[in-house]
Amino acid sequence: VKRVTVRVDPPYDVVVGSGALSELGALLAGRRRVAVVSQATVAEHHADAARTAAPNSELFLIGDGEPAKTLATVERLGRDLSAWGLLRDDVVLALGGGVVGDVAGFTAAVYHRGVAVVQVPTTLLAQIDAAVGGKTGVNLPEGKNLIGAFHQPIGVVADVDTLRSLPEREYRAGLGEVAKYALIAELSREHGGLAEIVEADAETIRDRDPDALTELVYGCVELKADVVARDPEERTGVRAVLNYGHTFAHAVEASGEYDDLLHGEAVAVGLVFAGQLAAALGRVDASTAEQHRQIVSLLGLSGRAPEGLEGSKLLELMRRDKKAKGGLTFVLPGRSGFERVDDPPAAALERALESVGVEG
Ligand SMILES: NC(=O)c1ccc[n+]([C@@H]2O[C@H](COP(=O)([O-])OP(=O)(O)OC[C@H]3O[C@@H](n4cnc5c(N)ncnc54)[C@H](O)[C@@H]3O)[C@@H](O)[C@H]2O)c1
Repeated sequence: VKRVTVRVDPPYDVVVGSGALSELGALLAGRRRVAVVSQATVAEHHADAARTAAPNSELFLIGDGEPAKTLATVERLGRDLSAWGLLRDDVVLALGGGVVGDVAGFTAAVYHRGVAVVQVPTTLLAQIDAAVGGKTGVNLPEGKNLIGAFHQPIGVVADVDTLRSLPEREYRAGLGEVAKYALIAELSREHGGLAEIVEADAETIRDRDPDALTELVYGCVELKADVVARDPEERTGVRAVLNYGHTFAHAVEASGEYDDLLHGEAVAVGLVFAGQLAAALGRVDASTAEQHRQIVSLLGLSGRAPEGLEGSKLLELMRRDKKAKGGLTFVLPGRSGFERVDDPPAAALERALESVGVEG
């Protein structure tokens, strides 16, 4: 197993690797009670292994998908934890993907005004992104993640073996965020090896080879941990780089017309769009834009927008993105690294949209 320290206050480790679940024992030693929060499918495959390390644990199941990420779920969970007798010095263990991590993390942030949480991510997306960095929260009918808190875990255990049971499409969508990290690493010339790993090992990665996955997840977590440490509560703008490709992705998602599109799939198209936009603005050369398309396709994802998307509608939705603060804002690579770019000229936007198959 490999270890990344997230240097926030207090610091914590992310343990990555095949068989990493065995590290849970050390992390939970001395704890009176461990509430394992999970979902039925995840628990069926992985709860026994996780609970072996937790002497006095109980399993709490929540529902599946975005509809389960609500305050009602938090209330239900809080009441169940209370009925079981979970106290302030006990621990919540989040076993699942980003939905479980966000719900269990937020509940831990507010239950008894804060109890410790251990994140045990079981999707690729959660291992490289959601479980690291302390963002937790639930949705409101008015918008995603509108109620939330920063609550850093006391530890994260990313066992790549748990990814074996993940449905193929969920796995591939996680690779969309992998593509994002690889491109950020390449273009900011930090954590340089990540794009090379993807380019050299794409096939073994797609086959979920545990050694390739360990290297890959480790590289992504290192990058995220580094950004998080520089801006733990998203105040300085440093963390914005992690939204590379997301302005486009959020707009496609917000259109409400592609509900069957997974987040990582939308991010993959968003990355190709962002690369082309940066090239159209003269910020990067054409070969860099092409590398976006190449990495996305090596990972088995499409760089083309779903059929029927209208350019003008998409631009309108991008303007409304909650991170755009009014205008049209992108985080784009350039000669001096990633920078915020406001209101790029229409011609550049059109070219970038056309390059992912969106007309007018
Ligand atoms: N807090 C953050 O920083 C952060 C960052 C990114 C995304 N998120 C949130 O994460 C959520 C998406 O997370 P996700 O992509 O992991 O989806 P998810 O949690 O919905 O999991 C996807 C599906 O896979 C199942 N599953 C999970 N692990 C499995 C396994 N090992 N084997 C079999 N099935 C398994 C789940 O039950 C679910 O049906 C979104 O709500 C998003 O807002 C949070």
